[in-house]
Amino acid sequence: MKLTLRIWRQAGADAPGRMVEYPVDGISEDMSFLEMLDVLNDRLILEGQEPVAFDHDCREGICGSCGVVINGRAHGPERTTTCQLHMRAFRDGDVIDVEPWRAKAFPVIKDLVVDRSAFDSIVQAGGYVTAPTGSAPDAHATPVPKADADTAFDNATCIGCGACVAACPNGSATLFASAKITHLNTLPQGGPERERRVIDMVQTMDALDFGGCTNSGECVAVCPKGIPLASIATLNREFLRASRK
Ligand code: FES
Repeated sequence: MKLTLRIWRQAGADAPGRMVEYPVDGISEDMSFLEMLDVLNDRLILEGQEPVAFDHDCREGICGSCGVVINGRAHGPERTTTCQLHMRAFRDGDVIDVEPWRAKAFPVIKDLVVDRSAFDSIVQAGGYVTAPTGSAPDAHATPVPKADADTAFDNATCIGCGACVAACPNGSATLFASAKITHLNTLPQGGPERERRVIDMVQTMDALDFGGCTNSGECVAVCPKGIPLASIATLNREFLRASRK
């Protein structure tokens, strides 16, 4: 495949950025999107140019570090992580725009790399259980209803990639916080800190540069793990419950 990439280049956090055009050739439809960027970077390095900075780690859809906006959509045309997007999703001759997440709470560090440490602050505010865990207990030691276990597991699949924030017109982190709160507040082990968790996490989210949620649903549409809109309803219900206490 022969493609034209238009990639956001920005030397540093305070440097001005701009889209730069790069033709690429010899791209296999079996390559992942990141492998395609590797091909470009190999060439740029051989030519003595600065390679494009982009974040990645596992390249298996697990770590959540690889997100970019592709043709205006977080993670590109398919509902998956950027590392799991393959070039067969594009056609020979396509022009592809590649940009970093665009959200006030995720400032650009360089090129396609953004600072997502605001997510860490939300998790540090309550996205954990303080009960000593000890050694691994028997699976049935704490009975958990099947429906609750399924809900908790579905929400625990959030990998914190930030696509929800990038897709939200308000730059809200509500779907991310909802996944963490639904995961932990649904399980009996999360019960002792249930109220404090939701208040602290929502207050931390509000204190950072995230916008408010208006239930527009763009976040859900791009979430590679399928965190549902119902999780936001859970956050709202848990917050109201905790606020009344
Ligand atoms: Fe880990 Fe994409 S590199 S999810």
